[in-house]
Amino acid sequence: MAFYAISVPYRYHIISLGAMGKLIVGNWKMNKGDEAGLQLAKNLIDLKGNVVICPPYTILREVAHLLRDASLKVGAQDCSSHEEGSYTGEVSASMVKSSGCSYVILGHSEVRTHRKETSQMVQKKAALALEAGLIPLICVGETRQDYEAGKTFEVLKSQLDLSIPETTQEIIIAYEPVWAIGTGLVPSLEYIEKTHGFIRQMTGDKYPVLYGGSVTSKNAQAILSIPEVSGVLVGGASLQAEEFIKIINA
Ligand code: 13P
Repeated sequence: MAFYAISVPYRYHIISLGAMGKLIVGNWKMNKGDEAGLQLAKNLIDLKGNVVICPPYTILREVAHLLRDASLKVGAQDCSSHEEGSYTGEVSASMVKSSGCSYVILGHSEVRTHRKETSQMVQKKAALALEAGLIPLICVGETRQDYEAGKTFEVLKSQLDLSIPETTQEIIIAYEPVWAIGTGLVPSLEYIEKTHGFIRQMTGDKYPVLYGGSVTSKNAQAILSIPEVSGVLVGGASLQAEEFIKIINA
């Protein structure tokens, strides 16, 4: 696997998520927005550890209520870059917070691609999310084209520079190579270690960095054993309770 030629001489220490261990986040995307989602949440209710699930907006409040005494936390998959007003179809950060969420995923490559979201918009959303009391989970990652052109680090640097707001509050970064999302392709462990090291270096090692892209119960343990990886952001494999629980137990 070819790497963009860059040396990472800086020695970063590894931000840990404390006694809670690594963070496992399930992004349900546009799936299970009804009874099936409530059932999935019920099947996860007894889970212990540092786990967040991100169902569709339609059931956020119900899921958050269901999990009110559980250790599992709830997040949304996006929020508006505006505070309130005439923005048909959008959901503000404060609405997400008031539906019982603690987290919000921002800058996911599917939103960047399908809804033409820019890093500047991600930064605005993240600032509003922090103001509302949410922890933004900011996604970055190169496309296959960037990867093949050897531009991975260049793209990551630009996305990090432009997407992260000036703040001392808690933020989580998720590295999701676009070519690994939903494809079954997973980068080598060395590649994950190197990109995560680069992100830590670029951000002054202030934030936990999750890996996302085709994570399953088969590869989770190896990925989570990389010290630079603070957790995983799971798509498809978070839709089945049994599979998701196996990842958490990894
Ligand atoms: P998959 O795990 O389905 O590849 O999706 C990853 C993702 O996009 C999580 O946000």
